[in-house]
Amino acid sequence: MKMKYYLLIFVGLFFSIGQIIAQSVQLSKKGTENMEISILYDNYVCTEGTQADWGFSCVLKVDGQQILFDTGTKPKILMDNINIIGTKLSEIDQVFISHNHHDHTGGLWTVLGEKNKIPVHLPYPADANLKNRTSELGGFPKSKEEPFSLSDHVWSGGTMGKDIREQCVVIHHKKGLIVIAGCSHPGIAEMLEQIKNDFGKEIYAVMGGFHLMRHSNKQVESIIEDFRKMGVKKCGCTHCTGEKQIQQFREAFGEDFIEMGTGRKIII
Ligand SMILES: [Fe+2]
Ligand SMILES: [Fe+2]
Repeated sequence: MKMKYYLLIFVGLFFSIGQIIAQSVQLSKKGTENMEISILYDNYVCTEGTQADWGFSCVLKVDGQQILFDTGTKPKILMDNINIIGTKLSEIDQVFISHNHHDHTGGLWTVLGEKNKIPVHLPYPADANLKNRTSELGGFPKSKEEPFSLSDHVWSGGTMGKDIREQCVVIHHKKGLIVIAGCSHPGIAEMLEQIKNDFGKEIYAVMGGFHLMRHSNKQVESIIEDFRKMGVKKCGCTHCTGEKQIQQFREAFGEDFIEMGTGRKIII
């Protein structure tokens, strides 16, 4: 009986140590209790007066900071939407670029014209042109391959993928991790799996572009199944996910589907 007891303790310890070793990120004990996302640029409109266009950008308010995630495609549309939504670029504390595609970097130079002397986090390795122009315009380009923190509860999930290198934002919320993705070129399920392992926490919600336009019904079904296995509770896909594919997620998640679109404010 005693032997069985010791064996159980040993197995328990073995798995806990294994988990700590696999986990490369050490989060603070408590997750944030509130975060807000405003969508500035998207393929779909939510608020009347704002314009839709191919691309993505949103602003995150967490830890008393405002982080601009990607910058859309056309500077004029970005600025028009920003004016209607009421975001003040002068109040942005950091810029985060998910990947070096024009529909995510298009407004960066205009943003830096309005607010500079702030960190601009580029995927690793930083593209020379993106890095140099950021510096010329007064921004502070930064680039790191491993996950790193932007504030107490906001992280980069680390740069992933081989051909197209991409990073996403991970928010440590008391309900679990909240992931914001630009295009998910390395594969959304693969990215979430890596984040879940590195951060050692359940993924509560995932939002952004999933890049599944050419995925069949069956392939999307299998990704939804992967989400379920990973314990993802809420999902808000948009931008390059594909219309039919968005509808599939909408139906699968029901009330837990997060509608996106320009002007949408999401508070969790
Ligand atoms: Fe995109
Ligand atoms: Fe992309």
